Amino acid sequence: MRVIVTGGAGFIGSHVVDALVARGDEVHVLDNLATGSRENVAPAAMLHEGDIRTDAGRLFDKVQPELCVHLAAQADVSTSVQRPDYDAEVNVLGTVRILEAARAHDAQVVFSSTGGAIYGECDGPAAEAAPRRPLSPYGIAKLAAEEYLAGWNRLYGTGHVALRFANVYGPRQSASLEGGVVAIFLERMAAGQPTAIYGDGGQTRDFVYVGDVAEAVLAAVRHAGGVFNIGTGVEISVSELHAACRRATGSADLPSRGPAREGDVVRSVIDPTLAATALGWHARTSLDDGLALTWAAAQD
Ligand SMILES: NC(=O)c1ccc[n+]([C@@H]2O[C@H](COP(=O)([O-])OP(=O)(O)OC[C@H]3O[C@@H](n4cnc5c(N)ncnc54)[C@H](O)[C@@H]3O)[C@@H](O)[C@H]2O)c1
Repeated sequence: MRVIVTGGAGFIGSHVVDALVARGDEVHVLDNLATGSRENVAPAAMLHEGDIRTDAGRLFDKVQPELCVHLAAQADVSTSVQRPDYDAEVNVLGTVRILEAARAHDAQVVFSSTGGAIYGECDGPAAEAAPRRPLSPYGIAKLAAEEYLAGWNRLYGTGHVALRFANVYGPRQSASLEGGVVAIFLERMAAGQPTAIYGDGGQTRDFVYVGDVAEAVLAAVRHAGGVFNIGTGVEISVSELHAACRRATGSADLPSRGPAREGDVVRSVIDPTLAATALGWHARTSLDDGLALTWAAAQD
């Protein structure tokens, strides 16, 4: 297939590009390198430096893609609180521009949404129909973008898919970007620097390995359209995660304790049952295996 991956120079995008290249697709990346990097992009893919807000139409006309994996985003929750207008420009308006560019070429869009930022506080694994209670402009914008996809499916008969990712981790994740707790723990343990846990460490997240997320994107290709949770359904506390990182690295680090961070939800976990039945996808990589792969990649 001819594919455009927006955000393909970023963490998740670069793994999606690798998976598409591996199955023989012609892959074009649209990325403005705001947080991504050239080195992340597989040599077999073509990097087009540009912005989804202004350059999508031109690139789609040139490439004539059959598929667009739309991962480019302003993905930082704090930035979305400080600059909700910028967040909406990239995450809402940018997505509308992608939808229109894709419509001109009958291309399917597979979109990266978020579980954690859409469901808010969870009292168990949240299914797709659970109440949506975003607690940040970022979550609101992702939800709005999902509604555009669903609306385009109704209006134009497209088969666009929104995937609500849990907390994704793996090689090439940046410790400097928000949400990269795995990258932060591993990087600090590698450097022999101390780590810190904020709050009592009992707060839980659903950690899904990036290679499994790339497989979920492939599973969504040519689907008739919908919204699917992409996570493990397993709650891991930050203290448990820290212990698993120690196992992976052989570190003896004991974390210091800091005050709970304002706005941090206590429980965040998503139910992946629908993705299993409708897409035939499930997370295959255990946390220990995923951490070992991430650690090994960091040693190269
Ligand atoms: N990492 C996670 O745990 C997680 C969880 C849920 C959802 N997501 C979503 O997955 C997607 C990828 O996230 P990531 O963790 O790889 O982040 P990332 O920051 O590594 O990737 C985002 C990419 O988009 C590019 N980009 C940003 N603004 C752009 C613009 N205006 N035009 C073109 N390119 C632009 C960046 O340069 C970067 O390469 C995002 O949509 C994010 O919201 C991530």
